[in-house]
Amino acid sequence: MSKNKIFIFDTTLRDGEQVPGCKLNTKEKIELALALEDLGVDIIEAGFPISSPGDFESVSEISKIIKNATVCGLSRAVEKDIEVAGQALKHTKRGRIHTGIGTSDSHIKSKFNSTREEILKRAVQAVKWARNFTDDVEFYAEDAGRTENEYLARVVEAVIAAGATTVNIPDTTGYCLPTQYGEKIAYLMNNVSNVDKAVLSCHCHNDLGLATANSIYGAINGARQIECTINGLGERAGNTSLEEVVMVLRQHKQLDLYTAIKAEKLNPISRLVSETMRMPVQPNKAIVGANAFSHSSGIHQDGFLKDAQTYEIINPEEVGAESSKIVLTARSGRSALAYRFKNLGYDFNRNDIDVLYAQFLELADKLKEVKDEDLQPLAEAQKTKQQ
Ligand code: KIV
Ligand code: ZN
Repeated sequence: MSKNKIFIFDTTLRDGEQVPGCKLNTKEKIELALALEDLGVDIIEAGFPISSPGDFESVSEISKIIKNATVCGLSRAVEKDIEVAGQALKHTKRGRIHTGIGTSDSHIKSKFNSTREEILKRAVQAVKWARNFTDDVEFYAEDAGRTENEYLARVVEAVIAAGATTVNIPDTTGYCLPTQYGEKIAYLMNNVSNVDKAVLSCHCHNDLGLATANSIYGAINGARQIECTINGLGERAGNTSLEEVVMVLRQHKQLDLYTAIKAEKLNPISRLVSETMRMPVQPNKAIVGANAFSHSSGIHQDGFLKDAQTYEIINPEEVGAESSKIVLTARSGRSALAYRFKNLGYDFNRNDIDVLYAQFLELADKLKEVKDEDLQPLAEAQKTKQQ
C-alpha cells in the first residue's frame, strides 16, 4: 500500500442521503453506487442497514453488484445494529462495518449519561462484535473534533488493539479550525502506539465552511482516508465535498498525495447526483457549479481571452465540465463583445465595436445577461450601415 495514497470513502449514499428531500430508493442507490465505482472511489458507504428495511435492502443489493470498491454499512455500537450490518453485507466481495460511539464529554454526558471509562469499554466491545463478521472494521469516534486529545488517543489505541483497521476521527459538528484538526491527527499519529496498524480517516462537516480545508490538513498530518460526498451533501451544512479534495490534491502536487479518482467524471457524476437526489448545485460551487468556469467582468474576460490561465487554475475538460464560458453582462468589456461577435461570424473593426459596445451597454443595463439572440439584431444593423 502506497503511503501517499489517500483513500476516498464516499458517503453520499449514507451521510448525503440524510439530507431532507434526498432520500433514495434501492434502484436509485444502485445506479449511484455503480457511478461511484466507475468514478474510482475506494469505499462506498451504502447506508445504515438497521435504520429501515429499505436501507437494508439497498446495502444488500449494492454489495452484490459492486466488484471493485469496498462496500460499507454503518452501525451504532449496538450488537443488533452490527449484526444487521453484517447480514446486509454478507454477499459482498469486500465488506466493511463502520461502527462507533460519541467520545466527546458532551456526547458522553448528554447523550449517553455515561462515563469515559464506560464508553471506552463499549467502543472496544463494538469492534469485537464487528470483527465476527469481517476483518475490515472501521471505528468512528463521533464528535472527535471536540474530544480531548488525550482521551481520544486512548480510545483509538484500544479500538485498534481490538481489531479496528480504520479509525474515523469525525469533526461531527464542523467546529475545528484546519490547524486544530491537523494537530489532532498529528497528536494521534505521535501518541497512539499501534497507529501503524490502522488508517486514520477524516470525516469533516461543513458548519463553518471548513470541511475541505480540515480534511486536507488531516491528510497533511498523516490521515490516509477522507470521507466525503458528491456536491458536499450531508447533514446540516454538509460534508467535505469529494470533488474539492480530489482537485486540491491534484493542484498541489507538492503535498505528494494522490487519489484514484478519475477527475474527468466529476462533473457528470455531480449532475447525476443532483438530478437523482433532487438537490440543485449552487452555481458558485467549486469544480461543479454552473459558474465554476464562466467569466463575466471585463477585466477577467480580457485576461482570460489573452491566456486562459490568467483566471483559470483548472482546465474544465480535466473535470468533465463544459468549456469555459464568457458571459456578457453590463460588467463585460469590449474584448469579450468582439470575441462573441467573432464567434457569431461577424468580423467588426475597432470603430464598429465602439459603436456596438455603446448599444450593448444600454441593453445590458436592462438585462441580467445579454444572449446571442440579443446581439444578432445589433450586428445586422451595423452591417447594413457599412453597405
Ligand atoms: O458526522 C459523524 O460523526 C458521522 C458518523 C456517524 C461517522 O456521520
Ligand atoms: Zn457525518
